[in-house]
Amino acid sequence: MAAPTEQDKLAEVVEAGTAIARGLDLDDTLRAVVEAATRVTRAAYGALGVLGPDHRISRFITTGLSNEQRELLGELPTGRGILGVLIDEARPLRLLDLSDDPRSSGFPPNHPPMHSFLGMPVAGRGTVYGNLYLTEAPDGAFTEEDERIVGLLAGMAAVAIENARLYQDATQQAEQARRAAEARVALTGAAAAVLHEHDLMEALRLVAREAVRLLRVRLVAVAVPDEFAGVVRYDVAEGPAAETFDTSSVPLGDSFAGSVLLAGVSIHVDGRDASALGNFVSAKRLAGHDVIAEPVVVGEEPAAVLLAADREDGEQFTVDDQELLGVLATFAAIAVHTSRSLARERARAEALARLRQTQTDAEARRETLARVIETQERERRRLAQDLHDRTAGGLTSVLFALRRLERELGDDDQRAQLSEAREGVSAAIEDVRDLIADLRPKVLDDFGLGPALERLCSTVARRSGLVLRPELGDGLDELAPEVATAVYRIVQEALSNVVRHAEAGNVGVTAAILGGQLVVTVEDDGRGFAPGSMGHGIEGMLDRARMVAGRVDLESPAGGGARVRFEMQIGAG
Ligand SMILES: Nc1ncnc2c1ncn2[C@@H]1O[C@H](COP(=O)(O)OP(=O)(O)OP(=O)(O)O)[C@@H](O)[C@H]1O
Ligand SMILES: [Mg+2]
Repeated sequence: MAAPTEQDKLAEVVEAGTAIARGLDLDDTLRAVVEAATRVTRAAYGALGVLGPDHRISRFITTGLSNEQRELLGELPTGRGILGVLIDEARPLRLLDLSDDPRSSGFPPNHPPMHSFLGMPVAGRGTVYGNLYLTEAPDGAFTEEDERIVGLLAGMAAVAIENARLYQDATQQAEQARRAAEARVALTGAAAAVLHEHDLMEALRLVAREAVRLLRVRLVAVAVPDEFAGVVRYDVAEGPAAETFDTSSVPLGDSFAGSVLLAGVSIHVDGRDASALGNFVSAKRLAGHDVIAEPVVVGEEPAAVLLAADREDGEQFTVDDQELLGVLATFAAIAVHTSRSLARERARAEALARLRQTQTDAEARRETLARVIETQERERRRLAQDLHDRTAGGLTSVLFALRRLERELGDDDQRAQLSEAREGVSAAIEDVRDLIADLRPKVLDDFGLGPALERLCSTVARRSGLVLRPELGDGLDELAPEVATAVYRIVQEALSNVVRHAEAGNVGVTAAILGGQLVVTVEDDGRGFAPGSMGHGIEGMLDRARMVAGRVDLESPAGGGARVRFEMQIGAG
């Protein structure tokens, strides 16, 4: 073989660079580099060892060996002896005879004889990725010139490896961010649904269904303690395996669910390992299943257990799964808490009303109402705060993370995917803001009734497409807080009814104080009230009005449509 000229050599280096730029598969690129190095130096054998995270050779690409020779050699070299020296010192090494060097550990059986040696670290930006090795120079020794040109080629190999790793990292990060964003968006939906559900069982069922969907599991169950009976009841079971799940009660003391409840800790038990479940009475029910459980803690005390079993893909539950179930458990806790405080206040107020039956009936009823409504307002304010702090804050930070990633990514496809995820998150933030405003409009507390009604009207208009014309008079912002809240809630319900029932196109909202009289109307041009229209919504409006010694009338204007009219005396007039 004729010795390559200087020009040939440079052409080889350029060719190797082009292979990298073409973005071929990493192994193909590295092979191109090794082959170029053997051609340039006319070595009989060449190899490139890539180091894994444990700093040992994880890939070994060779040239010059026949397939049979390679098969006979078997395993990858472990990186002892001279190869180990190169890995540790990361400096070029030229030897006349490998076996003369005292650091050589000799050749394994079936190894072809090798004498002259040139080793070159494959390194870039302070990281050693591997080494390029050449053996058997044509004239018995590798030259300085060989070393220089192989150094160039090793630099190229380093770039190829570095690119491949960066690309892999970026892909993984993008995928992780996308999944996190997806879960957040789904969680926001779940939170909204749970907050709007007043029936506790229905709310828990919702949480369980969301858990089945988000975790992709075969079963989610909610176990609730009955302390008097000393048992835990499975009140809710959802998912494809729910039908065959045994929901009969288990003893509080020595069951798995009971123990999670009493201990108040999260746990992951892979029941596919027969010994994992110990001696629980309920062990049979969970045996053979991978199970994670989260206590639903209300205040300080565990009020239920949320339990998920068996991922659809058959994999074991991860820490992320457990965390997600934990978040869902806080939703369940919010539902339990709200339902309990409402029930308590209602019971208390009803008892009070019964006790006072002999006294002025109207006053007792008003007290009942006042307490229930007050509790409702307090709960809503607390939930609004919770949502604002946890969900909205979290989503905003996801949004920023996605923006940053999007800017950093080079790949258009991934950028498009990320931007889609980012839009989903933006929409979710909007939803959460609306939800917070529904629960407790901050502007009502901060600026008073006028601005709060303005904002309510524009939100309803934006969401429904209705044309809304508010006409608001002076003095509304000086009303007593309980009056302002009552009016706000009445208008909110009246508008929600228009959107849901009226089939209207235009809506007028007026509020004015005239001669000591506050008059508020919500009027639409829809199909009008049917006779006997009355549900929880209208009943609530009447209650709110009564509480501030005002009244609500449902009117059918001569020109059609429906009108809700609220009025009350606010001064001597
Ligand atoms: N603006 C309106 N135009 C036509 N019909 C209405 C209007 N507002 C209320 N209704 C009728 O009155 C009924 C009772 O309303 P109400 O607000 O009490 O209950 P709801 O809206 O059905 O349920 P919710 O308890 O969620 O408010 C409605 O179902 C609807 O048939
Ligand atoms: Mg209604």
